[in-house]
Amino acid sequence: MAASIIFLFFAIITLAAGILLRRKHRHRNHRLPPGSLGLPFVGETIQLISAYKSDNPEPFIDQRVNRYGPIFTTHVFGEPTVFSADPETNRFFLLNEGKLFDCSYPGSISNLLGKHSLLLMKGALHKRMHSLTASFANSSIIKDHLLLDIDRLIRLNLDSWSDRVLLMEEAKKITFELTVKQLMSFDPGEWTENLRKEYVLVIEGFFTLPFPLFSTTYRRAIKARRKVAEALTLIVRERRKESETEEGKKNDMLGALLGSGNRFSDEQIVDFMVALLVAGYETTSTIMTLAVKFLTETPLALAQLKEEHDQIRSKKSNSEAPLEWSDYKSMAFTQCVVNETLRVGNIIGGIFRRAMTDINIKGYTIPKGWKVFASFRAVHLNPDHFKDARTFNPWRWQSNTEVTCPTNVYTPFGGGPRRCPGYELARVLLSVFLHRMVTQYSWYPAEEDKLVFFPTTRTQKRYPIIVKRREDYNKLCKAQ
Ligand code: HEM
Repeated sequence: MAASIIFLFFAIITLAAGILLRRKHRHRNHRLPPGSLGLPFVGETIQLISAYKSDNPEPFIDQRVNRYGPIFTTHVFGEPTVFSADPETNRFFLLNEGKLFDCSYPGSISNLLGKHSLLLMKGALHKRMHSLTASFANSSIIKDHLLLDIDRLIRLNLDSWSDRVLLMEEAKKITFELTVKQLMSFDPGEWTENLRKEYVLVIEGFFTLPFPLFSTTYRRAIKARRKVAEALTLIVRERRKESETEEGKKNDMLGALLGSGNRFSDEQIVDFMVALLVAGYETTSTIMTLAVKFLTETPLALAQLKEEHDQIRSKKSNSEAPLEWSDYKSMAFTQCVVNETLRVGNIIGGIFRRAMTDINIKGYTIPKGWKVFASFRAVHLNPDHFKDARTFNPWRWQSNTEVTCPTNVYTPFGGGPRRCPGYELARVLLSVFLHRMVTQYSWYPAEEDKLVFFPTTRTQKRYPIIVKRREDYNKLCKAQ
């Protein structure tokens, strides 16, 4: 009985909300994309989360695309939202950032990032800071400075492995240490590791409701954010003083932020650094883990990759000899592996934006204030764009068709004014990591581990593997 009353109550409210919404928009001559707004308040959030908590999140979008077409209306995380699984529409959303759409993050993420973070900045300041960030991660900086550090830090970490490792944890350590080095020239040590521990807590807070009273995780995240900010503020102050002298100037990102042309406050610089550490940390370490997982499950690809890297190593005097830019440029098959891991992995499945005005697109109107979601995942996994789209097949990138596929079909790094400024860095990092991994180690999974998709894409058990030095592994195989 109680259940029927509750059901009736929800049914009436849904109907009323639907009628009101439709009336309001009909009145303004709006033709919304087809779809359903689901239940009042929660909309279709429960269906979305349940799909992403299962082994296969695709049906949430697939079913709606089949029913309504590639642009549909739904209601998730408390707001009506237009979802797009259409590459052209996605491109429209991305390119019109700042003109018709604004970036939009959930409250928990915005609060923890800080108001001066690049991810939340808008307008001219965003443009300036975006290009400053890109200038510290572009190919000439990587070639002339970062490649050596990347190779050295990866080697240092890999050398410390023995027997069983949690690959995701190791990858996180590597990416964090590298970003700290790139930002403020610090080599790994106790300070970096302590900062990383606080960071983990901040990131956990991203996926909770931003109500300190109700969520212990969120409270812990706020506290950790404060500690991170305090630690970084001390560094910024010290470096500000040092930068007044010619010897104190350093050629890193913090040096550029403190440069004479800029007048950023300590708080602005700290927010900026916090966001940069977040942006590269989870994403790159996840892609490193997924690449190894996909390769382990595709032995032919792993064998071809080993061959490519053995050849590079065979031209060096010893195993310690650093990688050079020309080596990176010769990793043709590795680039196919990188492309395919990004396509299948979809660690950033898409991006949210908010409509700044009523927007007409493909015969529909997206009302001002509504959210839109450009799903990269739906496009990357669509068989119309990629044959056998759900199979990991790095060789597809060797054929002309996919290499020349339009840029709006393959967008793991987004596009437009907010296109990931770290895209080249992430690619180099993954390539160098794979080089050191396959030339130094053989491995096998320590236990079964599967992909999970909520709140982020990763493997459930952080991908535990048993690693053996290649020479030991070969001896072991011969002895058996
Ligand atoms: C595989 C690794 C990575 C992937 C898949 C990735 C993906 C993305 C995507 C899709 C965006 C666009 C977000 C939007 O349009 O709202 C983005 C933005 C961003 N990424 Fe990456 N990223 C990766 C690695 C990195 C690295 C290593 C850095 C470090 C430099 C970085 C820094 C940023 C920053 C600062 C933004 C914000 C740009 C802005 O809002 O203007 N990312 N990333």
